[in-house]
Amino acid sequence: MRSGPGPAAADTWWLPRAVVALRVRIFEKVNGDRAVTLPDARHGPEVFERVYAHPAAGGRSAGAGLSDLFWYWLAPGPEVHQEHLEPGARYEDVAATTRRLLAGSSTALAATAGRTIARVLEELPRDRISLVRLRDLVMPAWAEFCYELVFKEPCPPRARELITAHADDVVSALKCTSLRHPRRRAALTAYLRERIAAGDVPDPLPSSLTPLEQVHYLQGTFFNTAVVQLSEATAHVLLALARHPHVQHRLAAAPDDERYLAHVLDETMRLYPLFGIAHRITTDAIPLDEDTTLPAGTVVCFSYPAYHATGYDRPGAFDPDRWTDRSRKHVHHIPFGMAANRPCPAWRLSPLVLGAAVREVLGRFRLDSTASHTRSIPHRAPCLLIPRGLPGRPRRLAALRTAVRARDAVEDVTRGVRQLVLGTVMVLHARRQRAATRYFEEHPAGRCPVARPEGDNG
Ligand code: HEM
Repeated sequence: MRSGPGPAAADTWWLPRAVVALRVRIFEKVNGDRAVTLPDARHGPEVFERVYAHPAAGGRSAGAGLSDLFWYWLAPGPEVHQEHLEPGARYEDVAATTRRLLAGSSTALAATAGRTIARVLEELPRDRISLVRLRDLVMPAWAEFCYELVFKEPCPPRARELITAHADDVVSALKCTSLRHPRRRAALTAYLRERIAAGDVPDPLPSSLTPLEQVHYLQGTFFNTAVVQLSEATAHVLLALARHPHVQHRLAAAPDDERYLAHVLDETMRLYPLFGIAHRITTDAIPLDEDTTLPAGTVVCFSYPAYHATGYDRPGAFDPDRWTDRSRKHVHHIPFGMAANRPCPAWRLSPLVLGAAVREVLGRFRLDSTASHTRSIPHRAPCLLIPRGLPGRPRRLAALRTAVRARDAVEDVTRGVRQLVLGTVMVLHARRQRAATRYFEEHPAGRCPVARPEGDNG
């Protein structure tokens, strides 16, 4: 099967790349001259690992121009989002709460995930083929799942709607396919505020946060990041299966083959890591090579796709079998981040629940897609779901595929233009708002203790 853009898209393949290139240029410009991206032509995967794991690679928000952008996209409450908190007592309090909320037996977590995914699948017709966007299809299920993690009770439809609208708004703005809708986000804030005030969250929330900050913490970490990451990861693995029928067939034929399922997930996250770039702000000097030292205050961007492409044969190919003889410990593979530097707290939970979701889908449907598979899937993964047991109608399927391919090609162009325009509008707006810069001016104690960017004597 093809891996590049389809024939109808051949003339426009450059547009999505132009969007990505513009984003990279904007990020570089916003960062200024103190930014370094690893690995690069001179510094390979060993330098990437050493710098990422270095104790001085610890600053998260203060001192990086990029933070104004991320805080804009993540509002409300980016200052208490776990990912963006500087190290210190508040961070420890928040991280411990997240660990508690994510704890649970593997069997129970997988069962909850299977149940919430089954519910969205049961809403699809069984007597005909459905055309869906995989990310949109699964997001309400992960909204329910995350609600259950936090509230320990079944998710009411109103909460599912609010969480889905919020998570979708954040991820669409981040990908520049839509502007932000602060009112949608505020509706979830109001709902959570009421529920927390009523004492409906059974686990203790971080005591170092004010009541409103506790609301923002749950909203940002559980009802944005967790929902978005699980939805994007599910969309990636299902799209990869749709694009690689032999892998899909093998997995569907042996749904209990845990090992092969793990290989499929590993290969999906190697090729399509959810983080394109994770960044840190250095809090002290870090030697880069014999001639260069990164001074404190440098923004170091760690490129996951570039690191995941090192040390593999045909790194651009989707090949789950490459994992058969490899131990994950000895390869360049960090889908959940660097163990020594704030890795993902959901590294255990995520593969478990993704596996359960994939099994539910493959048990009911065969997947077919002609959509291009890129790391950022701004198209939200269009896919045909063919109910198992439906009598084969090859001509009908071929006609549908042609129609969908033509539609996707047109959409790729219009979306590309949209991303360029909306991205520019949001970058300018974020730079005017200076959310992170202003926050650290007003709360100097919130800075990482040793973070002291150039020109800052405070
Ligand atoms: C397949 C799903 C997921 C993937 C691939 C993933 C990946 C990652 C990666 C690579 C990082 C580290 C980024 C860095 O070094 O800056 C990270 C951090 C984080 N992730 Fe995930 N994630 C996933 C799901 C989740 C879920 C379900 C949650 C639920 C709360 C979550 C919450 C977080 C948080 C709070 C951090 C920041 C950690 C810290 O700074 O202490 N992630 N994730």
